[in-house]
Amino acid sequence: MIKVAINPSVEACRRNIKFNGSVACSKVESHLADARVYMLTHPKEFDVVDLDPYGSPSVFLDSAIQSVADGGMLMCTATDMAVLCGGNGEVCYSKYGSYPLRGKYCHEMALRILLACIESHANRYKRYIEPVLSVQMDFYVRVFVRIYTSASAMKSTPLKLSYVYQCIGCDSFHLQPVGRTASNKNNSVRYLPGFGPVVPQLCSDCGKKFNMGGPIWSGRIHDQEWVNSILGEVKSMKDRYPAYDRISAVLTTISEELPDVPLFLSLHNLCSTLKCTSPSAVMFRSAVINAGYRVSGTHVNPLGLKTDAPMDVIWDIMRCWVKNHPVKAQLPDQPGSVILAKEPTLQANFARAVASLSKAQAKKVARFLPNPEKHWGPKPRAGRQITSKHISLLGAEAVNGHLSLEDGEEPDAKRQKTEDTTQKTEDATPSS
Ligand SMILES: C[S@@+](CC[C@H](N)C(=O)[O-])C[C@H]1O[C@@H](n2cnc3c(N)ncnc32)[C@H](O)[C@@H]1O
Ligand SMILES: [Zn+2]
Repeated sequence: MIKVAINPSVEACRRNIKFNGSVACSKVESHLADARVYMLTHPKEFDVVDLDPYGSPSVFLDSAIQSVADGGMLMCTATDMAVLCGGNGEVCYSKYGSYPLRGKYCHEMALRILLACIESHANRYKRYIEPVLSVQMDFYVRVFVRIYTSASAMKSTPLKLSYVYQCIGCDSFHLQPVGRTASNKNNSVRYLPGFGPVVPQLCSDCGKKFNMGGPIWSGRIHDQEWVNSILGEVKSMKDRYPAYDRISAVLTTISEELPDVPLFLSLHNLCSTLKCTSPSAVMFRSAVINAGYRVSGTHVNPLGLKTDAPMDVIWDIMRCWVKNHPVKAQLPDQPGSVILAKEPTLQANFARAVASLSKAQAKKVARFLPNPEKHWGPKPRAGRQITSKHISLLGAEAVNGHLSLEDGEEPDAKRQKTEDTTQKTEDATPSS
């Protein structure tokens, strides 16, 4: 029997259960209770728990994690993107135990902060998570994780967590694993703290300091096999899903993400640091592939690029690009000037590589779709004004149409960079 524990809108739930007929009536129960108390008093009882609160799910996680059966699934939505994306880093730390950073990758970081937080609650009860699907869309993040119990498997948790060093001058970021393993003489595994620091005091690309965010979940955030099988099923029952185009676009992009590369680069940001024109995404992807590395898109951002190429390779590719597309002289202490002052050690090859287009792009399958209508998405709470800060944190799509730029105000892309630049001082704090 499937049990669904529901909440205050209990009258509407009862009506809905009746409306769905006798099968629903025999399978679904509604309860008027605080979900936390209900979950806490039903340990390991539910195959699936779906947390969809207003704003942050953080106060529900401890009880939710205890109520899911072994091998069961916890689904969790968070709509407090301004918190998870670094608007108020200290608030995120208090709710989720992790510091966000305001990189272009902040929406993926939001997913990884939520996953790390769920894992930390799970560990308290000798449990651990296995992410199945992690999606950032519109104005929210939503994760689907399986929950298992095993005191020994739990020892691997620190291997799946990392801090993030984000340079305040250029767009370089580096992951600092929380834990590592070593083998004993008898070949048994020892769990040890991670070696660090993975970066020097000052950025080796531009000479500026680093902010440190996290810890984030740096393990896999999707089960790619599961995603492919769901994509296949959805395709085979296309007519049953009114949102088919959206579902297939998101799942297709996710199925092509590099599974073992946390976070991503923004080509626009790299070019903005160097103040150069941008190579096309295909050219840049080709140069990365031709240098011997992997590259993919990300469902989080149409302009984002995941790659296992180290930052010095990325900057070498950009140096080679600038050699053929020169930039105006800049002040010598600017991050871009420092980066360009070095000679590339790699000769970038921008010739089109076969894998430079994703399979979906090659087949012209839509990977990102526009919102269904204008002004779509949550409206601001009464009395609140949408500002450009909301746009830079939530993304233009999420606040579509809410902000009419005032005369002389910068559009989003430019403003984001300006805000970043104000942070790019030696004394910059992680977030403001
Ligand atoms: C975003 S809505 C859920 C929407 C629903 N998932 C849907 O798709 O229609 C959040 C719901 O959580 C309920 N809620 C908030 N705090 C709760 C608590 N402590 N226990 C139970 N329900 C709670 C609210 O009353 C509200 O109905
Ligand atoms: Zn730097």
